[in-house]
Amino acid sequence: GAGMKKLAILGPGVVGGSCAEILLRDADLLERNAGEQLELSYVLARRALPDRPYKDKVVTDFSVIEHDADVFLVIETIGGCGAALEYVRRALAAGKHVVTANKQLIAEHGAELLALAKANGVSLLFEASVGGGIPVLHPLSQCLGANEIYEVRGILNGTTNFILTRMIEDQMSFEDALRLAQENGYAEKDPTADIEGIDACRKICILASLAFGKHVYPDGVYTEGITKIHLRDVEYIRAWGGVIKLLGRAKRLQNGRISAMVSPAVVDRHSQLAGVDDVFNAILVRGDAIGDVVFYGRGAGKMPTASAVVADVIDCAKHLNRKKLFGWGSSEEGYVADYRDMRTALYIRAQASKPDQALEAARKAFGEITALHCEDAPADEIAFITPQDTERELQAKLAGINGLTLQSVIRMTDY
Ligand code: HSE
Repeated sequence: GAGMKKLAILGPGVVGGSCAEILLRDADLLERNAGEQLELSYVLARRALPDRPYKDKVVTDFSVIEHDADVFLVIETIGGCGAALEYVRRALAAGKHVVTANKQLIAEHGAELLALAKANGVSLLFEASVGGGIPVLHPLSQCLGANEIYEVRGILNGTTNFILTRMIEDQMSFEDALRLAQENGYAEKDPTADIEGIDACRKICILASLAFGKHVYPDGVYTEGITKIHLRDVEYIRAWGGVIKLLGRAKRLQNGRISAMVSPAVVDRHSQLAGVDDVFNAILVRGDAIGDVVFYGRGAGKMPTASAVVADVIDCAKHLNRKKLFGWGSSEEGYVADYRDMRTALYIRAQASKPDQALEAARKAFGEITALHCEDAPADEIAFITPQDTERELQAKLAGINGLTLQSVIRMTDY
């Protein structure tokens, strides 16, 4: 009808289908919050979907949506960088706002797409791409706008946090915990993106880009997953007073560059991130005026994610004639520093045929170490924490110790 704002969903999968559900079910609520009547006019799918409540809106040809001048906004929930990238480009070029949950798309093509949106006077919003339903990108760019951001760090992947929590609380092995995560439907179709840290890497890239203003690409961010974490690592760290979490971290450096990485990390039991368990995510932002802020909530799942997508739709509807200033600029050579030049302390677990001598050699190499103990450790195993130094230095010293077979190396965090 008159005054209706027409929109389209591309890809009615798990998240897209939930967006459709909210748009159809909560029309009155959305109108109240958006100040406009929103009408789901098209759902782009590969084939007809006769069982869905929006079956009469399904189209299979994107150009129908592209050429309908009344469609003011497109929701992209196809995923990946194939069709999704092409359609988002075409939608922006056609002057339509785009809202997406696609972290890979934004992490790999954000700067280009944001520039395209700007050139066409429309918005590209993607709150759902980081932390699922947790509002973090808008608060970071808007509510914390008066802060110089020093650092962003977070538990950004629900599946791996679920696995680590099961290992910590139930002494479950990595393999069993992964199976349980898959049975519960938390893991991506191919769990590699979760357990190898790829999903978390895309999210820290988006956070870092937004926090520091230049695009950070996933291939420039050192990334390590959790597949090598052993139950005994969990035990040594527990005895020491901490927990192992998969963290994404990005930090502003003195020289205008940043550091960024994804890796397992030892977090002190008293840290704000230590108690974030199961599929929950948390993002800690450190700013010069605010100090530390933590955003916490459900980082995965269809309804939490759809809630963030539809909120972006409302935001666009409310700012129809004023494009929101949101995003970042292009990158530059050498923007992300080499992680080996960053300072950290390391947790080390190793096999040594002569453990006492090996510990003594480690003490000599590093100056000082904290030896760790765990009840059922084999007699030929040692574990210790090094002092802080650059990773390059620590690795060199480690390589110089004779008679050690390294089993685990995990970074320590300082808050
Ligand atoms: N597989 C992802 C996770 C979903 O476990 O966090 C949200 O990106």
